[in-house]
Amino acid sequence: MPNDMDIPPSTSALAQSLNAVKLSDSPLESRVLPREFYDLFLSESSKRRIEDPIRALLPLEDRPGLISLLAGKPNVDTFPITSMQFNLRDPVSSAESTIVLTEGELAKGLQYSSSAGIPDLLDWLVGLQEYNHGRKRGEGWGLCFGTGSSDLIYKAVNALLDPGDVALIEAPIYAGVFPVFHGTGCEMIEVRTDEHGTDAQGLREMLENWPAGKPKPKVLYTVPYGCNPTGMTSTLERRLQVLELAREHNFLILEGNAPRPPSYFTLEQDQPEVGRVVRFDSLSKVLSSGMRIGFISAPQCIIDAVILHTMTSNLQPPTLTQVIALRLLREWGYDGLRAHVERVAQFYHAKRDVFEGLMRKHLDGLAEWATPEAGMFFWFKLNLGDAAQGDSEAVIRTKALEKGVLALPGTVFHPGGRKTAYVRASFSLLPEDQVEEALRRLREVILEARKEAGVTE
Ligand SMILES: Cc1ncc(COP(=O)(O)O)c(C=O)c1O
Repeated sequence: MPNDMDIPPSTSALAQSLNAVKLSDSPLESRVLPREFYDLFLSESSKRRIEDPIRALLPLEDRPGLISLLAGKPNVDTFPITSMQFNLRDPVSSAESTIVLTEGELAKGLQYSSSAGIPDLLDWLVGLQEYNHGRKRGEGWGLCFGTGSSDLIYKAVNALLDPGDVALIEAPIYAGVFPVFHGTGCEMIEVRTDEHGTDAQGLREMLENWPAGKPKPKVLYTVPYGCNPTGMTSTLERRLQVLELAREHNFLILEGNAPRPPSYFTLEQDQPEVGRVVRFDSLSKVLSSGMRIGFISAPQCIIDAVILHTMTSNLQPPTLTQVIALRLLREWGYDGLRAHVERVAQFYHAKRDVFEGLMRKHLDGLAEWATPEAGMFFWFKLNLGDAAQGDSEAVIRTKALEKGVLALPGTVFHPGGRKTAYVRASFSLLPEDQVEEALRRLREVILEARKEAGVTE
């Protein structure tokens, strides 16, 4: 999974890891990059966006004593839903309790609200970032809510990239981001990863030998923990090297949700400059993927650009979702959410272990893999022999499908779609008997492909 299912370390572990990497003792405020710094980064289309004149005034409605004749809000008394409740499982005891939305919560949930997200939820999420990443509110960053992190990735990438700009994209990586980058007209350049994470040395060489006249990259997109599809995690050393490169070569780091600190978002506060990290979080894999709960933490002017985009596209994320999420999150508190995430992680670890046991049974010698530390995928390399030229595409897209197995060839996780013998298989849903059958079929497919390729052993 992307990564949300790992457990944040204790505060003391976080403090220790931070002490180990402390680079700057000067006060953080003096190291926060000024707003003008981002003039070079914001895209032309984002600079062209203007405020919705009605929505821009909406926050004023919260001013005490003010009588608003502003918005065309429907009267909630005309709405047919009159009450709402849901049952909630306790993350520790598993006991169920019934949560009834108050009249006020329901009325709020059924109504329009701010494009950034409802203030109380934003406040809770800012507190979550303080709790998980040790960032203090008001210190060089802001946060807004979106309909899943995908919504925010789309808006942030469009806030930053113009046609002809260059984006570095670590690979293999979550394939869902390629269409987003592609749509901006930017050039995507692949940054390799290995078992220690982003290949920072390779990246340094690439940047130091950058062709004269070619625009330098504006951003690097990375998922440093439990990366989808590989489950790979970048070491602390690599993350610090990448932060250094970002400063030396002046690019921003777009960090896909990676809850295990120290995140880039955590680490940057001890760097000589603060404000190069744009962090995407999602609760899709731990609360509900259908509720679409995502948030972005970034320098305020990038947050402002994202909110402006929301204002002019979908107006706002759904209020009802936010009201339900807030009620649930307040019920649990930060410790409760952590306990829940830990349980989710245990659930997927058990699924992973079953899947791996069956992979050993059916694919031993036919595929190679490393046990994923997090996530919901196995990323494995097919041993197809030389004739297949290290390409899993035909085998997975055609032959496996004919035998009734759907998986993803590794090529889709590379920005340039280069050939690879890897395959991604998800273990989040299937019961054991279906995993067994899927892997049995895959075994047949690989054996046939090897036979065709003349592999004898
Ligand atoms: C790295 C990464 N980012 C974003 C997403 C999309 O998440 P959301 O449901 O929050 O839009 C995924 C989904 O798997 C993912 O793996």
